Amino acid sequence: MDMVTIEKMTTQHLAEVITLGVVEAQKQFVGSIDDILKNANAQIRPHVIFTEDQIVGFFLIDTTYAEKYDFVSQSHSIGLRSFFIDKKYQGKGYAKQAILALSNYLSEAYPNHSTIYLTVNCQNPIAKGLYLKGGFEDTNTLYHGGAAGPQHIMVKALV
Ligand SMILES: CC(C)(COP(=O)(O)OP(=O)(O)OC[C@H]1O[C@@H](n2cnc3c(N)ncnc32)[C@H](O)[C@@H]1OP(=O)(O)O)[C@@H](O)C(=O)NCCC(=O)NCCS
Repeated sequence: MDMVTIEKMTTQHLAEVITLGVVEAQKQFVGSIDDILKNANAQIRPHVIFTEDQIVGFFLIDTTYAEKYDFVSQSHSIGLRSFFIDKKYQGKGYAKQAILALSNYLSEAYPNHSTIYLTVNCQNPIAKGLYLKGGFEDTNTLYHGGAAGPQHIMVKALV
């Protein structure tokens, strides 16, 4: 199987990144890439998931997560947002590889952060299962602020 790598997104990736998307039924879970990129800034940083020389997926690392959400108990926390694998590349194990690679990447790129949080829609069991396999724990509390219904709050310690 092709190996996956994680990189910070640069302007050189933009032309390929704007072609990424999910299938219709998944659009309730992640916005369009255009809308996601509008959220990106110096503190909410876009990342790309590569396999060989293709970009297959995308996510944001949000360093403002602890300030933004009351459910974050540790101040040295970051958030994973807008994680997705492009529709053409789903079901090939790339998401699982990327989630497993995330800890190592983050401990180098964000050494001052000790935990990572995310929320996942209660109607998205595939993504929730993926995060559990990737070492995230369900905090067994729900976040009700999302537009598409309640979300599980999940957390992972970064070592
Ligand atoms: C969730 C998502 C990231 C998974 O990406 P992926 O690359 O297809 O996932 P993988 O191939 O790595 O599979 C991960 C696990 O999910 C399972 N899975 C993936 N797609 C599945 C499907 N359609 N039906 C059932 N199980 C599925 C796999 O079997 C695998 O489990 P396993 O390790 O026990 O075999 C992808 O479906 C996606 O981008 N969805 C839309 C966006 C989204 O929901 N993001 C999460 C926001 S919190």
